[in-house]
Amino acid sequence: MEEQENVSRRNFMKMAISAIGGLIGAAFGLPAIAYIVGPALNSEQADWIRLGSLSTIELGTPTLFKSKVSRQIGWTVEKVDVGVYVLTEDGRNYHALSNICTHLGCRVRWISEREQFLSPCHNGVFDKHGLVVSGPPPRPLDEFETKTEDGNF
Ligand code: FES
Repeated sequence: MEEQENVSRRNFMKMAISAIGGLIGAAFGLPAIAYIVGPALNSEQADWIRLGSLSTIELGTPTLFKSKVSRQIGWTVEKVDVGVYVLTEDGRNYHALSNICTHLGCRVRWISEREQFLSPCHNGVFDKHGLVVSGPPPRPLDEFETKTEDGNF
């Protein structure tokens, strides 16, 4: 009888220690999981950025627009600069290209004399539609979805 009571006490202590360990693990583990997974869960939200008036875009020439967007980085929300080149050949269909090079992230700029985008860091070259012409960029410039409203996009 006494041995059975000791075993019960021992089992009780094991369960109590396991429960306390589980609570401590949850206290540290859940915030860590939320920190890691949280931003990924929020990435489904699509925010439109108003860039400017359609009238400022010259036909056939990529036009640079700059804006700031709020971006959640871990626990903090920061304002980051974004640059978008907008191209239209016909005044009806618009293509918005990121100005971030797909190699290592330098900002590309439009060289009108060459009709190409140049990434100055490692001489990456893209055509006016963002396709790679030469250099190390592994893929075309990222293209964003566009929409127009009341003469703006
Ligand atoms: S960052 Fe553009 S070519 Fe390297």
